[in-house]
This record gives sequence, C-alpha cells and structure tokens, in this order.
Amino acid sequence: MIRRVIWRIVRFGYVYLIKPLLFMMSPDNVHSHTISQMSFWQNVPGFTALVRLVFQQSSCSALKQQYHNVTFNSPVGLSAGFDKNGEIMPIIASLGFSFGEVGSVTADSCEGNIRPWFYRLPKTRSLVVNAGLNNHGSEAIIKRLANYSDSDLREFPIILSVAKTNSQKVISIEQGINDYVTTARRAKNQPNIKMIELNISCPNAYGGEDFTKPDGLELLLTAIDSINLKQPVFVKMPVNLDLLKAKDLLDVIVGHKIAGVTIANLAKNRTTANLKDDLPLSVVGNLSGEPTRDLSNELIRRTFLEYGKRLTIIGVGGIFSADDAYEKIKLGASLVELITGMIFEGPQLPSQIEDGLRRRLQTDGFNHISQAIGIDAKQ
Ligand SMILES: Cc1cc2nc3c(=O)[nH]c(=O)nc-3n(C[C@H](O)[C@H](O)[C@H](O)COP(=O)(O)O)c2cc1C
Repeated sequence: MIRRVIWRIVRFGYVYLIKPLLFMMSPDNVHSHTISQMSFWQNVPGFTALVRLVFQQSSCSALKQQYHNVTFNSPVGLSAGFDKNGEIMPIIASLGFSFGEVGSVTADSCEGNIRPWFYRLPKTRSLVVNAGLNNHGSEAIIKRLANYSDSDLREFPIILSVAKTNSQKVISIEQGINDYVTTARRAKNQPNIKMIELNISCPNAYGGEDFTKPDGLELLLTAIDSINLKQPVFVKMPVNLDLLKAKDLLDVIVGHKIAGVTIANLAKNRTTANLKDDLPLSVVGNLSGEPTRDLSNELIRRTFLEYGKRLTIIGVGGIFSADDAYEKIKLGASLVELITGMIFEGPQLPSQIEDGLRRRLQTDGFNHISQAIGIDAKQ
C-alpha cells in the first residue's frame, strides 16, 4: 500500500530531521507555533484535502464502532490538551484521527500558570506539563466549534473536555460545581459537541482536587445529572490513585448518568516514574507519555473487570505505536487517545496505529474490534 510507504517517509523525515530542530526550541513556542500554523493552513483552500489524501484511510468496518449513539470510524483519537481552544479540529480530523478532544475548557477564560508550561524528557519519552488550564473560556470556544461545518469535520466526533476555572475566585466545592455546570449548559444543545468529558483530575489548579474525592464527585455528578445533557458524559480519571481509591470513585460514577471513563490523566509521582532523564526539582508539573502507560493500563484492566458492562472505557497514556494501542484495547478500552506519541513519532502516527490495529485484528482472527476489547483483562 503506497500510503504505508509515504507514512514511513513522513516518520523518517519527522523523527530524524524535523524533531531534532523542534527539540532545540522551547516546547511552549513549538506548541503555540504549531497551533497557529495549523489554524492558518487549514483555511488555505485544498490544504486539508491534501492532508486527508496522505493520511486518511477509507473507513474500515472492522474498526468502526458506535457508542452512546456516536459513531467512531476508528478507535484512535486526540486526547485533551493539544487543541485547548478548538482551533484546529478540521486539520486533526484530516490527519487520521477519528475523533478529538477540545479543552480542557473552563467557564471563564484563563491565562494558565506562569510559563514555561512544558518541559521535555526525550529519553523517557515524556513531557512535564504545568499549563494550568489556559483556555479562551467555554463560551468563545463553544461558539468556535459551532461554526465548523459538516465538511470541516466529516463525521469527526468532538469531545468537549470540561474543567473548572483555575482562579482564586473558584475555590470552594460550590464554586467549582457552578463552573462545570455553566460550561455543560453552554454545550448542551450544540450539535458539533458529541460527548462531554469532566476533567476532575487537573493537578496544580486553585482549590485543589475536591472532585477526586468521592463526596465531592458525588455532588458534582448530581449537579451534572440535573442538567439532562443530551450528550453522553465521561469522567477523566486521575492515574495515580491506588486501586481502592479508584474503586471508590468508580462506585460513585456508576450511580450517575455517566456513560464512561477516560483512563487516565497525567502522572504525578516522579519517584516511581522510572525517569531516564534528569528532572530538576525546579521544573513543576506532571508527566505524560511513557510514565503514564503502565499505570493507565492497570487501571483500565481493573475498571474493565469490575465495571466493563456498565462503563465504556477510553484508554490514554503512553501510546507510541499500534502495539501500545492494541494492548489498551485488549485490556478493556473501547477507544484510545494520544498526544505525546504524536509529538515524539510524528503526524502520521494515528494513521499508522489505525492500519496496525486492522492488521493485528486479522492476525488474531478477529472480524471486528469488539471481539478484542478486554480479552486480556484477567484477574
Ligand atoms: C501538552 C499537554 C496538555 C494537556 N492538557 C490536558 C488538559 O487540558 N486536560 C486533560 O484532561 N488532560 C490534559 N493532558 C493530559 C492528556 O490528555 C493525557 O491524558 C496524557 O498526556 C497521557 O496521554 P499521552 O501519553 O498520549 O500524552 C495534557 C497532556 C499534554 C501532553
């Protein structure tokens, strides 16, 4: 297949030529330039069509799934945090992702923490993230998403990741809940927002993490239930919880109108992270990429075993290849997402993963991905 050859060439060019140059610049600058370049180019007539031609594959029935009335042409999506403001969804859709998250967005706009927000750990294949929920605010972002036409998105479901505003004005549990509810109401009747994800696990925000405790989560989900959202709602789990604490949260979650869980967010614990790079104590933030993989996989497995019939699982954390994605699927994830893998491996990665999954299903004798979900989730 000619596309496979092109993707290999793109990967080679990215990993050996472009990435070394990008990694000489500050990660904050690379990220903001990437977003502004992509949002410029996606408006140039013919550009997204060209990107689609190179990266997108024809829809494959073995990978197509429907969850909660939302159709996913393949299980590979972009995780929350890359396109915080929903500026580049058309180009993300053209790149071979089958769905994408926008956000995390908050009720009020927020500038985020003092820069730098990002720090690279090249040998560990990880980023230290300390952005602090910078975003344009949910009102402006939801308006932007509403302006995307069917031909911009082409059956590309957008998940809106919702957090609470990182501000001294949003400290108490009540203020936090009002913040989530404000954004959820704004998103309620928006046809371009197909699912809503509650990011309860953003570290380094004002007010701490009340919603990663069962009592706080119960109050938040009761408030979200009362809005009667049309879209399915997911909860994004923290990754560093011990299994009993995770179970406490999942027991709360299944008592509410929650369709599924996204497993999981950034890793907080540096001492157990098996870092291959020096990480100065002065660098604040939490880890993406490889250090999240095993933690996320174990939580996916446990969640699937106990709640797999009730909750749909989106698996995220440390996916750099089709094998990594397939591992999460076999442990119980129905869909997978990534960010760091694309930063380290290049823009062809989602297409390569989709292609690789197709081939792995064939090798294992499965006609459809649903047959592989959870087959390795043993006690
Ligand atoms: C640059 C960056 C920004 C992120 N921002 C958010 C965010 O705003 N909301 C959120 O739920 N997760 C955020 N995350 C976490 C990712 O969505 C994901 O859970 C985590 O990075 C693990 O996936 P990965 O190893 O594929 O990057 C961010 C991650 C990165 C790398």
